[in-house]
Amino acid sequence: MSGGLCVLAALLALGCTPQLGLAERAEKTPWFCHDLDCPPFKVVKSYNEDVELRSYKAGMWVSTNVTGTQYDTAVSTGFKRLFAYISGANAAQQEINMTAPVRVQVTPGQGPFCEDHFKISFYVPYKLQDNPPAPLSAEVFADPAPAADFYVLSYGGRTDERKLLDKATELTDFLNKQKLPYDYSRFYSAGYDSPYRAHDRHNEIWIATK
Ligand SMILES: *[C@@H]1O[C@H](CO)[C@@H](O)[C@H](O)[C@H]1NC(C)=O
Ligand SMILES: *[C@@H]1O[C@H](CO)[C@@H](O)[C@H](O)[C@H]1NC(C)=O
Repeated sequence: MSGGLCVLAALLALGCTPQLGLAERAEKTPWFCHDLDCPPFKVVKSYNEDVELRSYKAGMWVSTNVTGTQYDTAVSTGFKRLFAYISGANAAQQEINMTAPVRVQVTPGQGPFCEDHFKISFYVPYKLQDNPPAPLSAEVFADPAPAADFYVLSYGGRTDERKLLDKATELTDFLNKQKLPYDYSRFYSAGYDSPYRAHDRHNEIWIATK
């Protein structure tokens, strides 16, 4: 049952002990994570309906690097490697729950021949954060991320390379206009939904503060 009801019952002195840990976690998991584990953050500032500044805690991800010219192809290659990892291609031969988001770090023009560099990442489930099983593939690596602040632009619907580049441009235009300093060497695209979700889809562009 939800912690919310229990907290309400406690307030009404009905003798129910609230499970604060669960209630706290439920509060901190935004709607767009649905029932998946996702990295905790605090909203530092909301600029408008779509753009906010978030402060993320340090967290463990698993990642794989792909170089290429096409976002969709690179992400599909990376996703397959990470999916194999969570399906048992790890030292514990353990099935690992899917989490959200699937995050892609895009570094334009950093590969050989000016190809873009993509780092595709899955967030490690809460229970395994401290000790993710080692990947069997040399192409997949545990990727601890330090605490960091990001400007985040949210948008709904389905996304593709064209759309996310438009949205990344929208965010950098906004930051330029507001004279907010940011790391313009790279940006992140975060997708929270499987292809099967028809409604309430959620996507984000992240750009680190500077
Ligand atoms: C993956 O790419 C990042 C740059 O985005 C680089 O810093 C890192 O060393 C690469 N890791 C591996 C294992 O290739
Ligand atoms: C995986 O998900 C199931 C169902 O949501 C949950 O009961 C289980 O505790 C999760 N396992 C881990 C390791 O997070």
